[in-house]
Order: sequence, then C-alpha cells, then structure tokens
Amino acid sequence: MTDELTPAHGGQLINREVSGDEASALEEKAGSLPALRLSSRALSDLELIGIGGLSPLEGFMTSDAYKAVVETMRLPDELAWSLPVTLSATSEEAETYSEGSQIALADQAGALLAVLDLQEKFGYDKKAEAEQVYKTADEAHPGVAAMYAQGDVLLGGPVTIFKRPPADFQEHRLTPSETRAAFAKRGWKTVVGFQTRNPVHRAHEYLQKCAMEMVDGLLLHPLVGDTKSGDIPPDVRMRCYEVLLENYYPSDRVLLSVLPAAMRYAGPREAIFHAIMRKNYGCSHFIVGRDHAGVGDYYGTYDAQKIFLEFTRDELDMTPLFFEHSFFCKQCGGMASSKTCPHDVEHRVFLSGTKVREMLSAGEAPPPEFSRPEVAQILIESMTEQATAGGSGGGA
Ligand code: ADX
Repeated sequence: MTDELTPAHGGQLINREVSGDEASALEEKAGSLPALRLSSRALSDLELIGIGGLSPLEGFMTSDAYKAVVETMRLPDELAWSLPVTLSATSEEAETYSEGSQIALADQAGALLAVLDLQEKFGYDKKAEAEQVYKTADEAHPGVAAMYAQGDVLLGGPVTIFKRPPADFQEHRLTPSETRAAFAKRGWKTVVGFQTRNPVHRAHEYLQKCAMEMVDGLLLHPLVGDTKSGDIPPDVRMRCYEVLLENYYPSDRVLLSVLPAAMRYAGPREAIFHAIMRKNYGCSHFIVGRDHAGVGDYYGTYDAQKIFLEFTRDELDMTPLFFEHSFFCKQCGGMASSKTCPHDVEHRVFLSGTKVREMLSAGEAPPPEFSRPEVAQILIESMTEQATAGGSGGGA
C-alpha cells in the first residue's frame, strides 16, 4: 500500500542502520577504530542519513558531490540537491585517518554509534560555500557562522549506524518508513508537509488548513535539531503543537512527528532541502510561505519560492504550495493575504517577533488573532520558568 505514496527522492528509501547481530559485530569492530566525536549538527545529519531522511545519500559527501551541489544544486548524477551534507574534522584529526580506512563515529559523550568508510578527505573553501549556498559570507549569519566554526577538512564516505544517537521526543520521532506506514494506515495518498522551527501561530495554522482542504492529510513536521539562540526550544514548541492539535485540528487528518535536522537558515536553498526531506517522509506536497528558513534580511520575502523555478517538475517530483504573507484582517474577520484581502494594512494584525517576545515575557498573551490562547499560555509559562531559572528567554 505504501507504494501509492510519493516515492523517495532518487527512487529508493535508504536505510543505513543495522540491527541485531550485525549491529553488535559492528559495534565491537568500532571499538578498535579511531573515533571521531560529532557535533550535534553532524549527529542530526548522521541520524537522518541512517533512517533515509536524506535519501539517496548513503553517507557524508565526497568532493565530487560537494562541488556539484555547491555549484549546481545537483548531485553528480544530476539529481536535485541543494545543500552540502558534510562531516568536518580538524586538520589534526584528519591527519590521523587514512582514505580507504574506517572511522568510528561517536556522540558528544564518546558513545560509539556508527562507522564511516572513509573514501576521501578533502579541504574546502568556506567563503565560497557561504557565498554560493547562503548567498552571504557574513559571519553574523547563524548558518554561515556554524560552517565557519567547523573543522577545515571534510570526511566523505558511506556510514553504517548500529546505534541511533540518543534523542528526545521518541514517541514523535518517526522515521520516513514509519511516517509512510502511518500515512498508508490512514489511507492517505496525498500528504502536505509543514516545516517549522516556531510555535504554530495563526498564520502557520492558516497555511496548513488551506493546504488540508486540498490533500488527504497534514504532516506537522517541526525541526528539532540545533536552532539559533533566541529560537523557542523544541520541548516548549512540542507542548504548543500538542495543545493546538488537541483543540483546533481533526486528529485523524494530522500526524505530528519531528524532523531531527539542524537549521541552516539558508533560506531558498534550504527550502528545497526541506521539501526533499519531506518527500522522503512520504509527502506529496510541501508548504513554502514567506521567507522560508530565512533569518534577518539576507533573503527576499519570496526567494524561497522563486528558487523552485530552477528545478523542473520531474526533478523534484512533488508539489510545492506557495503562500503569500498571511495575517488576520479585522475587516475581513478572518485570516487572509494580499491575494484575498482588499483592506488597508491598518486593519491587519501584525506583530513583530520582538513585540511578541516582549508581550510574552511580560506575561501578556498576544491577541487571539495572532496566536491561539492555549499556545500563548504555554509560551508565557515557559518564559516565566526561564526567567525564574535565570534563562534569557526564547524567540517567538
Ligand atoms: S522556518 O524557518 O521554519 O521557515 P517558521 O517556522 O516561522 O520558520 O515558518 C514555517 C513556514 O511558515 C515557512 O514555510 C514560512 O515561510 C511560513 N510562514 C511563517 N509565517 C508566515 C506568514 N505570516 N505568512 C506566510 N507564511 C508564513
């Protein structure tokens, strides 16, 4: 039944995990190999590769794939792919590994998780990657800063995982084959994926519900890997999603599951990357709104939609759903966008992120036209808890 869903990118869902005796044997072998401790970003990528979220990738990119992706947004076999997926090491670390050998990959506490078959180690030009992928070399850009901070050598080759990195939200951490099975069980054939790194506010809800009118189901798929400081932590967001779904969505038409990816804030290129991952999870449609995966003023409001024109329909083999900036209009008495609302801006409820943060930390709920009261309540509570614990508060 699952074969009626959109096929994985490249045609086949990858699985780089081993279990049972095979896992025990590999774990034992890993104990005798040189080990590399991965950053939490690299651990996110490792988990995604293992479960097929990054199909058709079977490992970290070698130089031919890296170059092709940075320069052409395609893998060497021409398959669409917009962001490098790389594993970095310092020059000192890299010197101790030889091409053609194996390296054990460990989490930050040193627990061994996987083995990398090191095909190639290579240097790379960070500034060129920043300019081409992020469209800026500015180190104030959080994605660029994370890339600049990583090691100077990239280690490429396939990975085999014998133990998944330890992680939160296990009950909502479905793999692509699990989301596909869940969709099939519900009889969904068309599924819209929604990426978010924020609590779901009314504008997000509006986009999702417009899309839900057109497809069988919604995969609410918040990203729970690393985000920049100031973004709301995933545990708080998960509470917001749960209360929102309970109160405002039909439970048989939504699946809440998490995406274990880190945010790159690469705007347009990341929108393509986000869409491809959701296709791997079984989505036929993907929502792209205003400034998708953007940060600051680095990208134009609709650049992340325009980039889809650089790919043919066949290359992506899924349907992006583009939305204009949405808002609540008091004259319309409902959510709208400039495509549907004829009224002046003064009638529109617009709150900046900074304003929302200020309100929440003062214990004040944003208006119900901006955020559902149940969601606002959780955000206020979390701000209060953080303030009591001496934290600095999150974004909104
Ligand atoms: S993102 O970094 O994950 O893109 P966010 O969680 O805020 O940030 O956005 C999730 C999705 O909703 C993205 O597709 C984004 O473009 C869209 N979006 C957010 N706010 C609005 C809005 N007011 N109008 C239209 N689209 C929006």
